[in-house]
Amino acid sequence: MMLRPAILDCDTGIDDALAIMLAVRSKELRLLGVTTTSGNVSLDLVCRNTAYVLELVGAGGRVPVIPGASKPLMRAAHHETHVHGDDGLGGAYDGDGSEAAGIDAGVARAADFIVEQVLAAPGEVTLIFTGPLTNLAHALMKCPDLPRHVRELVFMGGAVRTGGNVTPSAEYNMYADPEAAKLVFHSGMRMTMVGLDVTNPTLLTPEHIGRLRGNPAGEFVYRCTKAYLERAEELNSGYGDGFSMHDPLTVGIAIDRTLARTGSYYVDIETRSELNDGRTVCDFLGKWGKEPNMDVCLEVDSDRFLEHFVRTIGELSS
Ligand code: BDR
Ligand code: CA
Repeated sequence: MMLRPAILDCDTGIDDALAIMLAVRSKELRLLGVTTTSGNVSLDLVCRNTAYVLELVGAGGRVPVIPGASKPLMRAAHHETHVHGDDGLGGAYDGDGSEAAGIDAGVARAADFIVEQVLAAPGEVTLIFTGPLTNLAHALMKCPDLPRHVRELVFMGGAVRTGGNVTPSAEYNMYADPEAAKLVFHSGMRMTMVGLDVTNPTLLTPEHIGRLRGNPAGEFVYRCTKAYLERAEELNSGYGDGFSMHDPLTVGIAIDRTLARTGSYYVDIETRSELNDGRTVCDFLGKWGKEPNMDVCLEVDSDRFLEHFVRTIGELSS
């Protein structure tokens, strides 16, 4: 089978780390690189965590880490150490920093990398974004023609029928850089939204994690989700005892569309609201009379995805 070329952009983060592991081990995707953005933690830590996880799954040096935006387009950075811990990996980082040697987080190359890779293989590259959409907004400003050449964007962000997780109405990735999201939503790129409606109920349970333990990758999953699971009720909006697989599910849906039921709608984002900043608004009834600009995930086969995740990570023997 031909592997589909993909770029993963993340703000590594616990669930981004699990998303990277899944993408690296995927038998469907060929990861061209992981671009990084400020988000859950600062860009420095995101780069270090990304390199650490790639090394853990045996892809260090093979899959490049390309540093991107150190802050949102127009706003101050809003980090989420409350959820992801001071190290961004739930306290699981045990390296000495050497994984990040050679990555200069001071030189933002992500937008250029995205443009170069997409233009080198028009219509082929899938973009998977699991953090704020800042790097993609920069790429669009550099190359307004980019949307015509991207195969598809699959992004984690937003909520259409459920509430937010950082404010009552906004999901974190959208809240962190709504101006970037607006630019992307209006770009004409083919895209799929993987929002809280489907990621909240997709929970990696202690039972799943128990099955993974025994090899370094499985032990890492255990260590980085441990502190979160001790506060699961508080952190996952009452969905139950488990770790919300926001970002891994996004990679899962990029791999296999049939995991989700989607609908095509026009979606926009609030950027100037005291109460609703960063809220994604989906025009389910076509009240604005606009053409749909994305596919929105509405339902998901969480069990099938979680089995896929456990099987894929379980196959890692080193
Ligand atoms: C998203 O926000 C981040 O904290 C997670 O990594 C995920 O991408 C969920 O709202
Ligand atoms: Ca993320």
